[in-house]
Amino acid sequence: MIYRIEETESTNSWMAAHLGDSLDAVVCSRQTAGRGQRGNHWESEDGKNICMSLLYKPVRILASDYFRLSEAVATAVCLCLQKFLKRDDIRIKWPNDIYVGDSKICGILIENRLEGMRISHSIAGIGLNVNQEVFLSDAPNPVSMKQLSGTDHPLDEVLECLMDQLKTQLEMAETDPKRLESLFWENLYRRDGVFPYQDQENGRFDARIVGIDAMGRLCLQDEKTGEKRWYAFKEVSFIV
Ligand code: BTN
Repeated sequence: MIYRIEETESTNSWMAAHLGDSLDAVVCSRQTAGRGQRGNHWESEDGKNICMSLLYKPVRILASDYFRLSEAVATAVCLCLQKFLKRDDIRIKWPNDIYVGDSKICGILIENRLEGMRISHSIAGIGLNVNQEVFLSDAPNPVSMKQLSGTDHPLDEVLECLMDQLKTQLEMAETDPKRLESLFWENLYRRDGVFPYQDQENGRFDARIVGIDAMGRLCLQDEKTGEKRWYAFKEVSFIV
């Protein structure tokens, strides 16, 4: 079931308060307190973009494998955008932003409810910039589908594609996680080459991505020292 509402604080919070069936979704025209990663506010102009949250109740995926959900959702959005925009620079920026070139087109906020080793439910919030043309917040590098294609994209068509892809990739997360891992890796931003990064201990350094483990940690190999370092989310920044 897809719930369509005009306004809410945050679709993730709405979903958490209305828990229904797995794969139910809520979409809204306006969030009054849209939430982003790191406690940031999520900017989205009224009625121009997709602001949605999907409820998912994992069957086999354990709490220790929660990164699979992130892989599934990011891959779904990435493949859907590739279909609409027909470009070869649409990528997943670890762990789960979607980038076109060096600009961010979609942010994902996944909130899991754990019960021991199980994930009783997961709420995947997706903010996809579709028809917005001007961005006012200080988010560093936003872009929308319309800015890239020059035309409006009907929100319903984008939503349909997203829902199809989300179902497919979440199914893959349950049944064929290795295949999903490969798809995620193939579509990874900066998968090849040396780029600048920054962490607390080393400051700014050049490195290449050499792996991602089952917990979703990113492994960077320092170009100068050859050292391989593993990072959890928020422990390293990409200098874009
Ligand atoms: C990010 O900071 O990159 C994540 C942004 C996630 C935004 C979406 S919009 C729909 C859902 N509801 C929220 O409050 N946040 C997510």
